[in-house]
Amino acid sequence: MKTILYNIKSLAGILDASTTKLSGKAMAQMNSIEEAWLCIEDGKIHSYGKMQELDMQTIERFDLQMNVEGQCVMPAFNDSHTHLVYAASRESEFVDRIKGLPYEEIAKKGGGILNSAKRLQETSEEELYDLALERLIQVKKSGTANIEIKSGYGLTTEAELKMLRVIRRLKETSDQTIKATFLAAHAYPMEYKQNHQAYINLIINEMLPKVVGEGLADYIDAFCEDGFFSAAETEQILEAGAKVGLKAKIHANQLHYSGGIQVGVKHHAISVDHLECVGDDELNCLLSSNTIGTLLPSAAFFINLPYQPARKMIDAGLAIALASDCNPGTSPSGNMSFVCSLACTQLKMTPEEAFNACSINGAYAMELQHETGSITVGKYADLILTKKIPSLAYIPYSFTENCIDQVFIKGS
Ligand code: NIG
Ligand code: FE
Repeated sequence: MKTILYNIKSLAGILDASTTKLSGKAMAQMNSIEEAWLCIEDGKIHSYGKMQELDMQTIERFDLQMNVEGQCVMPAFNDSHTHLVYAASRESEFVDRIKGLPYEEIAKKGGGILNSAKRLQETSEEELYDLALERLIQVKKSGTANIEIKSGYGLTTEAELKMLRVIRRLKETSDQTIKATFLAAHAYPMEYKQNHQAYINLIINEMLPKVVGEGLADYIDAFCEDGFFSAAETEQILEAGAKVGLKAKIHANQLHYSGGIQVGVKHHAISVDHLECVGDDELNCLLSSNTIGTLLPSAAFFINLPYQPARKMIDAGLAIALASDCNPGTSPSGNMSFVCSLACTQLKMTPEEAFNACSINGAYAMELQHETGSITVGKYADLILTKKIPSLAYIPYSFTENCIDQVFIKGS
């Protein structure tokens, strides 16, 4: 199948194949061609160029010819941190928080993650799959090509496996590339509150071998946070994961200076995510590593936390990724255009920095940087075709307006 898009107003996000992520000042640059064409062959970007250099006689050779005058093309979003599989929404806790009950207090009382776990344990695999598939279709329409999905609302062997099997089914049925992360270390179930080590042993000795035996996970995660998993507890989980070949992507420094960034870097995590609390030690630690910091501004927005210090991080030379954290407790939305709006208005990132953080850097945070995340010959044609908009900056500017006309995943 050969497709050509021509009369593209702006083709943005062009990178050479050797660029695996963008850091520091380079994040502000989005290479583009105004008035461009792009050819897709067998799902991949075959070639592109300037309209004035296109011989219009040749376009008849294409199976599909799309005149997209006035529309822009850019890499689709790569959402590298989500909890898309869950049983039920949690708007009653949302109302509790409005009335003044803090997120951590709700969690201590058995709400929050434990509430989601209870609901998930009662829900069948079939029903969970249907619910998750609907959400996946929704985020795809809003521009997300590839996505990471975590377990972590199971918290028993049976329920964690159920979640991961749902993710596996999504992998098998979706055209998107999906990465699965094993997050049993999300919260201590009530019966283990006084005996953390027993739950950690359950994760390491019972759950992990089954997860690996069935080939259900690509990564391992822990919620490294005061009141959840300490740095030392997180370390045990990451070490056990590494022994069976699972690299880490962890929740770190969302509510406190938890030591999560240091533990993640020490264990060569692919990414450390959230990062509301970043001081000089954390910054220097990230600067000395290949671990990417992934910021989740919609979670900070939704539970009213101070925003992540993106400016300080980028100005220090770091690469950062942005992700939605889509989950029923702290970010009931997987809309990456809105994440970009928050990145611009609250994190003071430019639209170019935001788009790069969602495309190539999001791909890096899922180890997909050689396959997707930029306009590069040979990469998958994972693309957003915008509506007729004045410029790409209009997307984060016009928050809540849907600026996306079509999303291409692997060329379709
Ligand atoms: O990424 N921070 C920990 N986990 C999820 C939300 C958990 C929940 O409240 O359901 C997050 O924000
Ligand atoms: Fe999360």
